[in-house]
Amino acid sequence: MSVSIKTQQEIEYMREAGKILAAVHEELREKIEPGISTKDIDRWGEAAIRRYKCIPSFLNYEGYPASICVSVNDEVVHGIPNKKRILREGDIVSLDAGVIYKGYHSDAARTYAVGKIDANAQKLIDVTKQSFFEGIKYAKAGNHLYDISKAIQKHVESNGFSIVRDLVGHGVGQNLHEDPQIPNFKPVGRGIKLVPGMTLAIEPMVNAGVPDVWWLEDDWTVVTQDGEYSAHYENTILITEGEPEILSLQDGIQ
Ligand code: MF3
Ligand code: CO
Repeated sequence: MSVSIKTQQEIEYMREAGKILAAVHEELREKIEPGISTKDIDRWGEAAIRRYKCIPSFLNYEGYPASICVSVNDEVVHGIPNKKRILREGDIVSLDAGVIYKGYHSDAARTYAVGKIDANAQKLIDVTKQSFFEGIKYAKAGNHLYDISKAIQKHVESNGFSIVRDLVGHGVGQNLHEDPQIPNFKPVGRGIKLVPGMTLAIEPMVNAGVPDVWWLEDDWTVVTQDGEYSAHYENTILITEGEPEILSLQDGIQ
């Protein structure tokens, strides 16, 4: 395993990639409403990414056929946009996107309510997002990687939800997926020591019911085995001596 430490110049490119991705997510958030298709989201997202002169990271990545992963309700991640899949009031929808700016990737995901949703679905979205922020309290030089994992797991499980174990976060930079793998639960050991200049995609995937998932026939879409809802929240962050910098939020603010 080799974890890349970014130079000052690389960090500047990563910051720009993150800022653009935050703006793309903001645009998409405003368009979420009953009646749109998951393909609409992909078209709008790709157009926004290209308007910023970036390349969609996910398009054709290992054969993935779209720019935005759009996952509805029991779909955990990697849903494939489809013009026949129409969002309905009461759904929740996760949008995962990445952009390449000057050869550097950013990666971020958000989960939104479609119209009015029930209280437990809203709690799932909120706990998933908060678990990211609980995790990154430990994301600073000198701490160990699994300190982050443990804090995410604790927040999710103490709220009665479950962590998906078959998918993990990752390093990010010149490649979408770099070392290290970042579980959202605490494995045995402490994990690597965190060093300034590491850029990491931290991405809790949280199920309302059982943690178990399976893959659909399309080989991409991951769904919960019990059909309960799942939520996803992700940002690309930079490790520093102090507080981590959240690269894929506008001005680093939620
Ligand atoms: N954010 C996703 C991840 O970290 C990327 C989607 S995979 C793709 O795995 F194939 F759709 F690009
Ligand atoms: Co990711």
